[in-house]
Amino acid sequence: MPDATPRGLTRLAFGGDYNPEQWPESVWHEDVRLMREAGVSMVSVGIFSWALLEPSPGVYDFAWLDRLFDLLHENDIRVDLGTPTVVPPVWFYRAHPEALPVTADGTRYEFGSRGAICHSNTDYRAAAANIATKLAERYGDHPALAMWHVHNEYGVPVSACYCDSCAGHFRRWLLGTYGTIESLNEAWGTAFWGQRYGDFEEINPPRATPTVGNPAQVLDYRRFADATIRENFLMERDILHRLSPGVPVTTNFMTALSQCDSIDYWAWGREVDIVTNDHYLITDGRRTHVNLAMAADLTRSVAGGAPWILLEHSTSGVNWQARNPAKAPGQMARNSLAHVARGSEGAMFFQWRQSRRGAEKFHSAMVPHGGTDTRVWREVVELGATLDTLNPVRGTRTVADVAVLWDWQSWWAQALDWRPSEDHDARERADSFYEALYDRHLTVDFAHPEADLSAYPLVVVPALYLMTKAAGDNLRRYVDQGGTLVVSYFSGIVDEHDAVHEGAYPGVLRDTLGLTVEEFSPLLGGERVRLTGPDGAELDGDVWTEFVVPRGAETVWTYTDGLTAGRPAVTRHRLGEGTAWYISTRLGTDGIDAVLARAAQDARLAPRTELPRDVEVVHRTGEQGSYLFAINHTATEAKVPLDTPGTELLTGERAAGRLAVPAGAVRVVRLDG
Ligand code: GLA
Ligand code: ZN
Repeated sequence: MPDATPRGLTRLAFGGDYNPEQWPESVWHEDVRLMREAGVSMVSVGIFSWALLEPSPGVYDFAWLDRLFDLLHENDIRVDLGTPTVVPPVWFYRAHPEALPVTADGTRYEFGSRGAICHSNTDYRAAAANIATKLAERYGDHPALAMWHVHNEYGVPVSACYCDSCAGHFRRWLLGTYGTIESLNEAWGTAFWGQRYGDFEEINPPRATPTVGNPAQVLDYRRFADATIRENFLMERDILHRLSPGVPVTTNFMTALSQCDSIDYWAWGREVDIVTNDHYLITDGRRTHVNLAMAADLTRSVAGGAPWILLEHSTSGVNWQARNPAKAPGQMARNSLAHVARGSEGAMFFQWRQSRRGAEKFHSAMVPHGGTDTRVWREVVELGATLDTLNPVRGTRTVADVAVLWDWQSWWAQALDWRPSEDHDARERADSFYEALYDRHLTVDFAHPEADLSAYPLVVVPALYLMTKAAGDNLRRYVDQGGTLVVSYFSGIVDEHDAVHEGAYPGVLRDTLGLTVEEFSPLLGGERVRLTGPDGAELDGDVWTEFVVPRGAETVWTYTDGLTAGRPAVTRHRLGEGTAWYISTRLGTDGIDAVLARAAQDARLAPRTELPRDVEVVHRTGEQGSYLFAINHTATEAKVPLDTPGTELLTGERAAGRLAVPAGAVRVVRLDG
């Protein structure tokens, strides 16, 4: 499990990706001087340096990295050393052009960007193993080395390759998974459209097809691609463990659902020594601090609740979205501390010094083009000082109130073609349920559908279309033993092969929810339905409706118009000691909140109505003490009630009763006792 800490790092992590190879060495000296000024504790180096470290095959130049290591060490800055395997040098591709990945329609990518890798390619694997070995031999016991940073953001920009060597690798993976061609035919439902295979050798990746491909094949290919990429991570990790014992190994995740959809982080979280994450604000119209909180909660959850590290975010604007707004004054600190509140052991950035050349020269950095007489630099220095006062929170764990079930594989399945409605979006459901919980000031742990849920009074299931029998049994047990469950439409429908569970929908959830669904009836674009509930409370839904038949459940909200008029829309089922709610249409966050308000009563979760909207209150606790983080995302001062008095760390003042948090500010109270 990922519970290590960077070797020798005695402060919260503060720093960034440091790419000194883009600058003359004279600049390095100014860099470390400024790093000291800002209180930088760790930097990530070498992530893209393969072509410099191995300028031609088997010829190495470590002299510059030696000097850099020593310089950082002399200045008490810890090193997170990258293995540069995300960009092999051009000489490698000239010798092994088949290591360039191929798209589903047969296009082979070219050299000249980054991340162009076929992860099945054995020449790539050998070359990656070699450079990782050379680095581990040279720096594995360097006193400045704190952590290994393998590769960079596995899973993007190429999530899967469709070349011939991947085809061979896929066949071996299928053989290992299914054993016999008969069981593959059964699992993939190849009786449909005459797709029966006589031999594993006949199977290809799901390349371009005239119309929809076999959904089970497409789903398995996503699993295969993720597993193949993971094999390469494990290969490097094991080399580093062997040659550099005691130094933790990580690779930077991108748990934000808007930033990477190809990696099953539940599987990856178990394999790293420390979970690290990259997070960027996405300007998609949703509240960015809510998306941030969700990504941070998901990151902590894949770390099994252990502390993790925000390895990259931005000081201000990025440069890869359609429009890249600068951050408002104070926003960088709020973002950073919101990650810390949710379990990050610091806040690091991409990147230290803004590049003059290359694809990311308009991406903000800690040292902007404008140098140190800039707002960004002043805020960076201020953040360094703030983090220094927060060092005591290291090692404590964030306290969650409720669980939300999430499964990347179910998400992949919902993205397959020819679903009842293309307007249904599993990620949107997760975002909206999360947002409603955030607005109720509940801290969320994400959980795998088969995880032990008994610690949570309330478990929320945004559309979890693919659900194994084991997951269904798990939820039934959870409710039976007293839990409160809230389930969205399009959950529990298919098994791990995208085969509909036997009998009526919703398959493995029928008994738990006390109902069946006869038919889905998605709505047309812009169409809405009205629901009437307790005391005439009205809600409206869009995108999806269903013909629900209660079989033990009571109807709480009823459709009043549309094809399903007069039928149950939201239901509640008492089972054993617990209660299971079902929402059969797409409610907005207000509608979700109305259901959650009732479910929270079943779960005996006290409302936190005294907290204003967009004032985030999160607790971290451990042997070292208990800390309350209050982050005010609004433009007016907020008052946060304190159950226990304490000392506010940023101002040093005593805090009791109602804690004043100025507009846009953060306060962290070490609670007495
Ligand atoms: C990712 C990468 C970095 C950089 C940033 C820019 O997180 O890991 O190398 O490209 O994005 O936002
Ligand atoms: Zn390939």
